[in-house]
Amino acid sequence: MRQQYKQLLTIPKPFVKWAGGKRQLIPILNDNLPKSMGTYYEPFLGGGALLFHILSERNGQKCGVSDLNSDLVLTYTTIRDKANDLIHSLKNHSKNYQKDSKSYYYAIRESNPRSAVEKTSRLLFLNRTCFNGLYRVNSKGKFNVPLGKYTNPNIVNEENIRSVSHVLQSSKVSIKCRDFESVLNDAKKGDLVYFDPPYQPVSDTANFTSYTHKSFTITDLKRLANLCLDLDSKGCKVLLSNSDSQEVAEMFTDKQWKIKKIEANRSINSNSKKRTGHFELLIKNY
Ligand SMILES: C[S@@+](CC[C@H](N)C(=O)[O-])C[C@H]1O[C@@H](n2cnc3c(N)ncnc32)[C@H](O)[C@@H]1O
Repeated sequence: MRQQYKQLLTIPKPFVKWAGGKRQLIPILNDNLPKSMGTYYEPFLGGGALLFHILSERNGQKCGVSDLNSDLVLTYTTIRDKANDLIHSLKNHSKNYQKDSKSYYYAIRESNPRSAVEKTSRLLFLNRTCFNGLYRVNSKGKFNVPLGKYTNPNIVNEENIRSVSHVLQSSKVSIKCRDFESVLNDAKKGDLVYFDPPYQPVSDTANFTSYTHKSFTITDLKRLANLCLDLDSKGCKVLLSNSDSQEVAEMFTDKQWKIKKIEANRSINSNSKKRTGHFELLIKNY
């Protein structure tokens, strides 16, 4: 009973480290949320930093979240539906990793489990133990990150998994695997749609677009800008994060768009000196 009480008090947090994750920007994003909203939509879910913030601040908030990465979406639904089995499997990974981290890491990286629990457990294990905690796949969709240098990685974050599972079990949160444009069929007047797409590279060396086997191209960015206009004409509230580039700013010149330049630290960059002094844009229509 006491254990259950304690679990319910744990605030759910992102359970994966994800490139472009917004945990450090939550205070700024929170200041830019509207006072009221219908359903909250997040069509580029990733680690879900803003989703978990909203779920812990706004009790009973209706949410519709999605992502094109099917492994990631499976991770959300498995945590929701099979938390006990998942924790058991992660404990096994943790034990084996402690015996011989290098050979165990590469054996798991090469493995291709079939069940939802083992697939999810593999993704979470690799995310905790790989270099920089970076999820990256090649054009064939194969995870290709080398082993990281950790002495004691927290492979089984049991309390957080239980807390996330609890909050996602609410019938008010729907989780889907789909392209971002499908949100147009669901969102209605007064709903908030937060877009945090893969960013266009600001320099040749800053190219990170491989969350899925398909890169996010300039055509996708144009599709996104048109979608924002369509949602705006439906009366939806739109909030968009993107890179600080002229290309992006030029797509949002109509008077309803307010553009703010905000300072952001990139936590996933192999060169720690490049993790500061980086700006992004926050664009909204309300
Ligand atoms: C910048 S990340 C989102 C990070 C998230 N806000 C967080 O806090 O962790 C972008 C996400 O968009 C997803 N994505 C890429 N292309 C997509 C598409 N066409 N439709 C939907 N999601 C897509 C990627 O799988 C990735 O998870």
